[in-house]
Amino acid sequence: MSAIDLHARASKDYEAKLAETQQLLVRAAAEFAPLKQASSLGAEDVVITHLINALELPIPVFVLETGALHQETLDLLERTRTMSRAPVEVYRPVNEQVMQFVAREGKEAMYRSIELRKACCGIRKLEPLARALAGQKAWITGLRREQSSARAEVPLVDTSELARPDGRTKINPLANWTWGDVWHYIQANGVDYNPLHDQFFPSIGCAPCTRAISLGEDFRAGRWWWEDEAAKECGLHVKNEEKVVA
Ligand code: ADX
Ligand code: SF4
Repeated sequence: MSAIDLHARASKDYEAKLAETQQLLVRAAAEFAPLKQASSLGAEDVVITHLINALELPIPVFVLETGALHQETLDLLERTRTMSRAPVEVYRPVNEQVMQFVAREGKEAMYRSIELRKACCGIRKLEPLARALAGQKAWITGLRREQSSARAEVPLVDTSELARPDGRTKINPLANWTWGDVWHYIQANGVDYNPLHDQFFPSIGCAPCTRAISLGEDFRAGRWWWEDEAAKECGLHVKNEEKVVA
């Protein structure tokens, strides 16, 4: 059974949510330029890229190619680069930093401690993310409230990071979509997607840190599965501790 067969199920207010998402993307392109879409090439992100292309919005897409992605993800990246109207940028880590880290700590360092896992994410994701977002006013992500309890309050337009010196607006156009909505859109629009989704990988990150989930397991159970629930964010979306006073 494919992920479409298993999951595609539009919620009652799907059409309204889709219209709201489209309006938000159009508004974002006008109000928050320059901005980019961050794409992991997961199901949510391929939907957003499809919408950007369908609406012909001047929003480039970027992928953090960590050097540890699955072959299926790399293949989808190549297909996306060919098919997308919007430019698809690829950011890779600094090779020397990766080589030194692996030489010092080994290929399986991420399993030994949270500190080493975060150091790996720092080199492979956060440093390239900073380059990808340099000079940008905002970024678009595929975060959804349903994904985890830590994400339960994700807003459509998140300004909470603006309080930080390097903070920018984060736009989450699918914040209130269900998993069924995401797959309904993929089915209805014939969107290309990562075949790992057909093998029970709902959430896909780097290969060493992602596994398939079993029936009944949480959506993100296959990410950093050896760590406690609270630690399971790579730093791309860590919540600002301080409340922002408007
Ligand atoms: S993570 O923090 O646990 O890695 P997750 O995989 O759920 O995040 O993805 C959430 C959003 O972060 C994605 O929808 C996308 O916007 C962004 N993102 C995650 N990984 C990448 C990546 N490799 N390249 C670009 N954006 C990414
Ligand atoms: Fe390294 Fe795993 Fe983080 Fe990828 S997800 S950067 S492999 S620790």
